[in-house]
Amino acid sequence: MTIEIQTSQQEFPIPAGVFAQKVTSVQHYTDRLFKFRVTRPESFRFRSGEFVMIGLPNAEKPVFRAYSIASPSWDEEIEFYSIKVEDGPLTEHLQKIKVGDTVLMRKKSTGTLVKDALLPGKRLWMFSTGTGIAPFASLIRDPETYEKFEEVILTHTCRDVGELTYGQELVAAVKDDPLCGEFAQGLRLYSTTTREDYPFQGRITDLMASGKVFEDLGVSPISAEIDRGMICGSMAMLHDTKAALEGFGLVEGANNRPDTFVVERAFVD
Ligand code: A2P
Repeated sequence: MTIEIQTSQQEFPIPAGVFAQKVTSVQHYTDRLFKFRVTRPESFRFRSGEFVMIGLPNAEKPVFRAYSIASPSWDEEIEFYSIKVEDGPLTEHLQKIKVGDTVLMRKKSTGTLVKDALLPGKRLWMFSTGTGIAPFASLIRDPETYEKFEEVILTHTCRDVGELTYGQELVAAVKDDPLCGEFAQGLRLYSTTTREDYPFQGRITDLMASGKVFEDLGVSPISAEIDRGMICGSMAMLHDTKAALEGFGLVEGANNRPDTFVVERAFVD
């Protein structure tokens, strides 16, 4: 069964089994990055940190791509943070969306960056590059994260300074938020660039190997007794950050086998 809806976009029938949601806001950060929010279907439930498949109603058989949900599970809207790829089958069109347009969302979310996949610990590290910050944008706005961990350190590495804005605005907003603010006192953001001058520079993998990230933050090096890790970025970043955590004695876990770190790919490229 298909349902027809009216939008300012080119109209195609909405495929069965997907939600058709309205865009409520769009914010462009750089020529490579933007955020958008859509209405939340009442029946849509997810765990903070999960991803969902999204598409546009611009073809008989729309292209769907996995996107981390950047908003927390209690939010009334759904937020996404996206890269713009010139000839990307989805992002080429997605980057042009306007308020009132329709975004398609499959009904089931999933993912490994959820607190159930980690053993209890004292300090949680969230390692991200580029749009890999999205699932952490969800988790740092969820009070449950702070119930489980005393300290939360979010690292975000990007090519240039403009790409750090989303994370910096987000953390400032979390600390000011009436719901999360009091929980999030233990949250710290460590932003670095690799291709432009900035007070903190370098890949997070190199900064862990040299120990500089620990010096900069004034914390002890990572240990399996107190630290837990979550990683989200490009395939190469995941591979290298995973190796770094294994070097500190951490072990990769999953939903059905919780351990000391978990990994999720930032999907769209
Ligand atoms: P670099 O500029 O040295 O490539 P991208 O926008 O290409 O996804 O990259 C986002 C950030 O991730 C960049 O700062 C990039 O650094 C960094 N990065 C890329 N590959 C790795 C890797 N294997 N390990 C750690 N960081 C990486």
